[in-house]
Amino acid sequence: MMTTPFEAFSFAKRIPSTPSIGSTTVTKPDHIHLSFGFAAPHLFPIEELSQAAYEAVSLHGRTALQYSGSGGPRKILEWIQNRSLVHGIQAELPQILVTYGSTQGIDIAARILLDPGDHVWVESPSFFSALQAFRAAEAVITSFPIDEDGLRVDLVENALLEARRQNKPIPKFVYTMPTYHNPGGVTLTTERRARLAELAETYNFFIVEDDAYSELNFTGNKYPPLYTLLPGRVIYLNTFSKIIGPGLRLGWMIADRRVIDKARLLNLGGSIGVFTQEILAQLLDRLAFQEHVDQLSQHYHKQRDIMAEAIKSSFGDHVTFHLPEGGFYIWLRFGEAVNTSDFLREAAERGVSFVDGKSFFAKPEGYHYARLCFSYVSEEQILRGVNILADAYFAYEEQRLFGVTKQRHL
Ligand SMILES: Cc1ncc(COP(=O)(O)O)c(C=O)c1O
Repeated sequence: MMTTPFEAFSFAKRIPSTPSIGSTTVTKPDHIHLSFGFAAPHLFPIEELSQAAYEAVSLHGRTALQYSGSGGPRKILEWIQNRSLVHGIQAELPQILVTYGSTQGIDIAARILLDPGDHVWVESPSFFSALQAFRAAEAVITSFPIDEDGLRVDLVENALLEARRQNKPIPKFVYTMPTYHNPGGVTLTTERRARLAELAETYNFFIVEDDAYSELNFTGNKYPPLYTLLPGRVIYLNTFSKIIGPGLRLGWMIADRRVIDKARLLNLGGSIGVFTQEILAQLLDRLAFQEHVDQLSQHYHKQRDIMAEAIKSSFGDHVTFHLPEGGFYIWLRFGEAVNTSDFLREAAERGVSFVDGKSFFAKPEGYHYARLCFSYVSEEQILRGVNILADAYFAYEEQRLFGVTKQRHL
């Protein structure tokens, strides 16, 4: 039977084109994935999870496998409530919504706050999946730079003043990753947090606070979640992906009850995988959580140090970066004339992947940046991967500057 070619069909225009990010499609077995923002697989709590899964089936299977309306296991909500308190966030249970990872939380926030043509302000760089969600919501995206202290709130303030003066649109929300930014690695200072919260109050917009990494803290320094500063105007998002495992696809949203009630309306199929939630509930019951995150933080801290040293010795003064206080990433800044997309393939052929800078920006910019991730790979792979990457970069530089390929010498 002949089928009409897809070209003749018009899919919904709001679906954005999805360029492949970095060289994440490479699947050679010995490939070193400095591109993957994945958790370290050897630190998944496998033993506890298998016990938890057994008990979820044997003790709770008959309810957990049933349709559940909009409810999930209360235990998860209570766990989130208690853990949030450790970070100063007070929330009633109806203010907590379990989501299909925090990416779904971003998407829900966009869908309940935005009409097509509404304005969203983001950091540049920003998280690529968030940019995709905002494009799919047909929002107008405006970005503001970050520096060592996080989002340049002073520039946001100037833009708000200007918008008010010229009767231009105020954003419906600002999307930010204040703690251990992806990809920037930077953290918003307490002063800037306070100012951003004041601005949201004064100018009547929401803040979507994406807090995926704050449990992975290498310094002990603490920063107040934006939610604690302005609970009525912050949609707080977090995830089990970085602290348990991303394959669970479970995260959560905390917000004013009226916001959560709207968000619930979007969960058309009922709550997010109640059966998976039940496994997680059983796990959280038996996992010494603080010890677990301390172990993760220690591991990632060590990985960060190894990667930072490897970058310094392989790249010398060809790159600068901020040493992150937590999270998964080091964000390299090359000379302005460098385009990291131009040696992506060269690096992939030599056996290493990274994410080129442009993937993190709403506009065509950021070409001289690259994101490396230290969480997924082993110590040995970090050392080898950074070295290979430097070889690829120096080969590209020689070619770019002199039109020849020579050996690396710092
Ligand atoms: C800032 C940020 N938010 C959200 C996510 C996605 O988390 P989830 O797996 O919960 O969807 C990531 C994952 O890389 C992230 O870096």
